[in-house]
Amino acid sequence: MAGTCVVGLQWGDEAKGKIVDLIGDQFDFVVRYNGGANAGHTVVVDGKTFKLSLLPTGVIRPATTSVIGNGVVVYPPRFFEEVDSLARAGVDLSKRLFLSDHAHVIFPYHMEEERLAESSTEGKIGTTGRGIGPCYQDKVGRRFAIRVGELLRPDHLRERLAQIVPFKNRLCTAFADGNATPKVFEPTALADEYLGYAERIRPYVTDTSRLLHEAVKAGKRVLFEAAQGSLLDVDHGTYPYVTSSSSLPSGIWSGSGLPAKNVKRIIGVVKAYTSRVGRGPFPTELDDGIDGYGERIRKVGREYGTVTGRPRRTGWFDAMAVRYTAALSGADEITVMLLDVLSGLPELKLCVGYDLDGERRTHFTSDAYELERCKPIYETLPGWTEDITTARKLTDLPAAARRYVDRVGELVGLPVSVVSVGPGREQTIRV
Ligand code: IMP
Repeated sequence: MAGTCVVGLQWGDEAKGKIVDLIGDQFDFVVRYNGGANAGHTVVVDGKTFKLSLLPTGVIRPATTSVIGNGVVVYPPRFFEEVDSLARAGVDLSKRLFLSDHAHVIFPYHMEEERLAESSTEGKIGTTGRGIGPCYQDKVGRRFAIRVGELLRPDHLRERLAQIVPFKNRLCTAFADGNATPKVFEPTALADEYLGYAERIRPYVTDTSRLLHEAVKAGKRVLFEAAQGSLLDVDHGTYPYVTSSSSLPSGIWSGSGLPAKNVKRIIGVVKAYTSRVGRGPFPTELDDGIDGYGERIRKVGREYGTVTGRPRRTGWFDAMAVRYTAALSGADEITVMLLDVLSGLPELKLCVGYDLDGERRTHFTSDAYELERCKPIYETLPGWTEDITTARKLTDLPAAARRYVDRVGELVGLPVSVVSVGPGREQTIRV
């Protein structure tokens, strides 16, 4: 069996969905192993556009079985919203979408905890507000977490919420430092609400680790979709400005139960430039005003968050960062996305080193406090003016664009297997 992982090598939003779409028909199973509804991907089915954030992108392929693994955190209303919107478009997911009984459940108090933390002066990370961090905190803390399997046991769920909710109410009240009025929750009402979800969710719930082990034994092909980007990984990303899960392929083993030895190919996805949503250091950021390159890349690349609509921060390609994540992810190749967005810029810069307090650094640091002090050292390449959105092979690209792609591959140290020149499936150069 061939397990493959598609993983973003920057701060997320690298257009992983397009790569999953391009290769999706080669797989029997698609699996999400980390994160929750903080991810955002746009999927087009028969001309209709869907914004998915919790379900794997691969759900749209009728022959594919989709799995939401134990490493994911699930907000049931969002789960139904996505399932229903696909059902309305004729995509039937019954018997081919499975949710781990070990995945953790997001409750409204998680979102409230996040809202209060983000509105405090000390705790801002610029999160998506989906309750992701507080739910993972409860998971690791063990005392106040509820797993999907527990939703299916009514008396047990009522008992657990009767213990947890008063504590959460006290926590939120204490947390609201006078600036924000805390919401409080009522255990019985919350239990009634979630028991309603439980009945609907029941047919999807199973032991997905076993399901995947059986699939592997039967020789099925499995595709893992990493959510977020490698630089947002809780261990190896630019901590503390990261998400709360393992977004690198290292999360596959813990987040799905399938040992890493089953993953034979790792496809690292990068944008031809860099973007980031939320706070945290970003050495190559182009914060150069409304007439600057940063704004131009944002506009042309439609760099606004799928989940929150926030304008993304944009900047030059950082080869230091991607060489680091390529190594940590075990990527075998890279795909360079959104190259067309750079058309028309007179010159392009690639970050090839950092100046840290006057000394040249040739390797990345994921320590946010150190990275904040790193100034990029650039190599400058000529731009191109031609429209490249109709290019279908490397030789269709202007020489400057080819040179740019070659140099990106060289600096990262991996072969470039795909260059994307537009959102369409056909706007793809396979190298
Ligand atoms: P959280 O995942 O909502 O806790 O947010 C933590 C950080 O990760 C914030 O900077 C978010 O903007 C960022 N983030 C979370 N999910 C994504 C994603 O799918 N793409 C890009 N950034 C993300």
